[in-house]
Amino acid sequence: MSDLRRPQPIQRRDFLGKAAMWTCGATLGLATVGMARLPFPAVIAGEAGAVKVGRPDDLAPGPGRWIASARAFVFRDDAGVYAISGICTHLGCIVSQTLAGFDCPCHGSRFDSQGEVTRGPAPSALPWLEVGLAPDGQLVIDTQTNVPPGTKLSV
Ligand code: FES
Repeated sequence: MSDLRRPQPIQRRDFLGKAAMWTCGATLGLATVGMARLPFPAVIAGEAGAVKVGRPDDLAPGPGRWIASARAFVFRDDAGVYAISGICTHLGCIVSQTLAGFDCPCHGSRFDSQGEVTRGPAPSALPWLEVGLAPDGQLVIDTQTNVPPGTKLSV
């Protein structure tokens, strides 16, 4: 009696071959998705426009204060208050502040304390952002407006 209706057991070699083929296909697919995503910044779009960051007197001289909603560091020194974007100009990772300036954790770019590139691959300096005073006396960072490096708000 013929046993054609009963499924044939899969050969071990066939199974391993198909498993390897599916694994290679999945790997190539994921790698393609990853490479297609590379040109786009790794950050989620931030709060656009003006971000209030508190009163000038609350800002002490010295290291910058990270303002997450503006994705920027705000500083105060003898000349005034200024803000430097924390978004790396390479592919958009968020930099961290160091004693020498800023480091990007993604591909190793480094910036000095004024945001100038000291080591690539970042193609340009961290932008300085416009800082103003709101009618209620709070500092406001305009995340959409870049200003020349060195621009500070006298307070
Ligand atoms: S995102 Fe590549 S070095 Fe910062």
